[in-house]
Amino acid sequence: MLKLGVIGTSWIARSFIDAAHLTEKFKFSAVYSRRLESAARFSADFEEIEQFDQLEQFFEAHLDVIYIASPNALHFEQAKGALLAGHHVIVEKPAFSNPSELLEIMKLAEEKDLLFFEGARNIHETAFTTIKDFLADKTVKGADFTYSKYSSKMPALLQGELPNKFNAKFSGGLLADLGVYLLYAAIFWFGKPQKATYDAVILPSGVDLSGVGVLDYSEFKVAIKCAGNVNSYLPSEIYTEDGTLILDGVNAITSATFVNLAGEKTRLDITAPKHSLYDEANEFAKLLESHDTTTAKHLQSYAKAVAETSYEMRQSAGIVFTADHQ
Ligand SMILES: NC(=O)c1ccc[n+]([C@@H]2O[C@H](COP(=O)([O-])OP(=O)(O)OC[C@H]3O[C@@H](n4cnc5c(N)ncnc54)[C@H](OP(=O)(O)O)[C@@H]3O)[C@@H](O)[C@H]2O)c1
Repeated sequence: MLKLGVIGTSWIARSFIDAAHLTEKFKFSAVYSRRLESAARFSADFEEIEQFDQLEQFFEAHLDVIYIASPNALHFEQAKGALLAGHHVIVEKPAFSNPSELLEIMKLAEEKDLLFFEGARNIHETAFTTIKDFLADKTVKGADFTYSKYSSKMPALLQGELPNKFNAKFSGGLLADLGVYLLYAAIFWFGKPQKATYDAVILPSGVDLSGVGVLDYSEFKVAIKCAGNVNSYLPSEIYTEDGTLILDGVNAITSATFVNLAGEKTRLDITAPKHSLYDEANEFAKLLESHDTTTAKHLQSYAKAVAETSYEMRQSAGIVFTADHQ
């Protein structure tokens, strides 16, 4: 069993623990929170959980891997501290504020012979490989990817508060939050674009509330759209020389239908995950147990392409995070 330490006590941290336990390869063992009362509340459903409100002490705990689900801008220092203390790390998406932070963590993980993963759950779903295999003998001509969801933090924003998700100090904004899934999907299936641009609705805090981007692959373009102030029910599509592949989404896929040029439809066999975070948790566990640094580095190559593309898009839209100055 991999002893799992957790940073952050919101619903996503609980969700990862549930998925990790479903794999039967992790045992949630310790939690860090800024307040011991929150750590206690978060641990209440489990037994023998060590609780910390001091990060240095948490890092000294006997753990195999630390999962980080704090606001984006805190990931870098926390991941660095975990690696320096000898722990493997799983960092929630977007792993870091910019490519420089990512490169530093990749280098440190390699020096320490430890594994670092970005928790980009979508590309670990079996369906993403099903689509990749399906596209292998096709010529892609373009794609349209959308992920827009009315944020649970919108009411607070509308009342004049500044939730972490919309704060440049915490490396927020919709490209970082939802857009990252679209970039992962594009890069997983088509590789890194030659150029990427983004045009966004910018909040007074300096980050994007919504935006439209173009990933330029020279032979074709991928349009991406994300927003936090509306819900979108549009499907996503991949256009090929032989027809169109319609997906119900690319943040998660539950249905995929190919419509050929004659209008004939073929449904692809899509396997839904047991839990939205199960496939990533299961893959990370396997790689940790076998200390598979080669596959971990291959996954890091996607993280690097996503971080560089996202940074280029942010620059084109004039979005600057506080962390970019550090
Ligand atoms: N994979 C997915 O499906 C998914 C879904 C949602 C979010 N995420 C990612 O998960 C991460 C956390 O997102 P979230 O929405 O849960 O964030 P959040 O609610 O703003 O913060 C997460 C945790 O960090 C701590 N925290 C909050 N504000 C802080 C501050 N100002 N300083 C220090 N610590 C603070 C809190 O824990 P304590 O109070 O216990 O210290 C909180 O429970 C983000 O990177 C996000 O992108 C991923």
